[in-house]
Amino acid sequence: MVEQQTIEKLNELLKGERMAIQVYDRTKKLQQDTQVANMLNTFESDHKKHAEMLSERIRELGGDPEVTTGFPGMMADIMSVINSIRGPHQLLEQVYDGEDKGIHAYEERLNQLDRDSQVIIRQIMNEDHEHLKWFKVRMEKEKSEKH
Ligand SMILES: [Fe+2]
Repeated sequence: MVEQQTIEKLNELLKGERMAIQVYDRTKKLQQDTQVANMLNTFESDHKKHAEMLSERIRELGGDPEVTTGFPGMMADIMSVINSIRGPHQLLEQVYDGEDKGIHAYEERLNQLDRDSQVIIRQIMNEDHEHLKWFKVRMEKEKSEKH
């Protein structure tokens, strides 16, 4: 059934969002830099909102939103990486990598979804692209300060 497949895809994405929320919850506490910590906090809120949007759509389609976290191939082993992070610079790079994989997970599924779900997914992707942009600017800034 088409709807069942859509629900499954949306639930896969929801798992990724839950993982992102966990990652931001952990990393913002590791951050000494207030500006970075505040931004990570904002991104965590964005991902919570995204998780809510996906859950709502899943319920509309008659499904049950997934409550577990984690997603094979996406943000792979990021939790263990975060545990071994020594400095803020590595942290930003790792989280950037996770965000990048997250956007790819959305891109891969976009065409397999119905129109209404696509509208929601596009909105989520747009906001996530803003996260990537911020990380890029910030990482460039740190590089130029080092040299
Ligand atoms: Fe994001």
